[in-house]
Amino acid sequence: MNRRNWISKATLGSTGVVILPHLGIAMPKTNLGDTYLRLASNENPYGCSEQVKKSFLTSATAINRYAFPAIPELKIALAKRFQLTAENILLGAGSSGILEAVAQFMLQREGDVTTATPTFDILPSMLEKFGRKTHYILLKQDHTLDLDAMLAKTKEHPGLVYIVNPNNPIGTVVASQELRQFITEATKYSHVLIDEAYLEFCDNPESMIDMVINPRVMVIKTFSKVYGLAGLRIGYGFAHKEWANELEKFMIFAGLPISSPAFSVATAALDDQNFVDFVVQKNTESKAIVVETLRKLEIDYIPSQTSFILFDISKYPTEFMMDMKNKGILIGTRDYLGKKWCRLSMGTVEEIKEFTKVLTELWKA
Ligand SMILES: Cc1ncc(COP(=O)(O)O)c(C=O)c1O
Repeated sequence: MNRRNWISKATLGSTGVVILPHLGIAMPKTNLGDTYLRLASNENPYGCSEQVKKSFLTSATAINRYAFPAIPELKIALAKRFQLTAENILLGAGSSGILEAVAQFMLQREGDVTTATPTFDILPSMLEKFGRKTHYILLKQDHTLDLDAMLAKTKEHPGLVYIVNPNNPIGTVVASQELRQFITEATKYSHVLIDEAYLEFCDNPESMIDMVINPRVMVIKTFSKVYGLAGLRIGYGFAHKEWANELEKFMIFAGLPISSPAFSVATAALDDQNFVDFVVQKNTESKAIVVETLRKLEIDYIPSQTSFILFDISKYPTEFMMDMKNKGILIGTRDYLGKKWCRLSMGTVEEIKEFTKVLTELWKA
């Protein structure tokens, strides 16, 4: 199921609010191309680099062609970059495309899903629609994954463990050594899928990609976040070739749903580390501005290792999301631990200054 379908299936709540059931996140209803400040969907506010834009425009001259030759080329580029072979690489129309294939894979076999709550749950939600059981394990008090409880659950109900690290919508990360130990143990019972959509934003990003030497481990990543290509729809993943082969059976000519411009652009984006460094640095600056404001206003928040932050709006007297929307700003909201939280995606430094100004006005009103 792609994002368009989620949105068309989303519930239209009162006062123009769209509830995305799979994400458990409420967002104000809007159309693309509007003039809102969009701080609700964890998009990259800096767009993409000049180099990437150029490659997009060049690729426009070849949109009459299928992307067949580009598929192995990108796989080889990714394999080289991450020191694996092309057989370990999976490509999808966004990492959601790969999640769809994992859902299909799971539906062909026995087994339950174990994941955290809250987390990015489109995969478990999709499987649940087909009657597949998901065990949601509440985060620990420090808002990080409860890996011990997840291990105990998957031992009892083997199948698939889906881990989003750093976790969306919470923004916390688990220590890599703990995660490695968990993967080693959990794969004795289940397949383990690690979603690293936001890893680049962490202070000390440590990927689990090297663990795909284990036939039951997969890591997925995306060009949608730090690379700024959400609208282009391209994501990638790494698995042992046995699992990668199995998954490709559920993908039509694996890679074909991805458009040819997406291939050129993704290849150019991979080569543009300066842009990635720039985005990460600006994201840190924006977060620092938000945190300073939250502290001043004495608003509780969860320290974030990502491009978004969760803060407590339970004490806000009216509908925070609608008040923000009326001021031209889109944010998401989320229920967690019996409280209402705002999930704020980082904008540019200027956008975030605008947001904190409005937040301060509303909070003090
Ligand atoms: C944790 C996580 N994984 C996967 C995705 C899917 O992203 P895409 O399909 O754009 O790669 C998202 C999107 O927000 C996400 O937050």
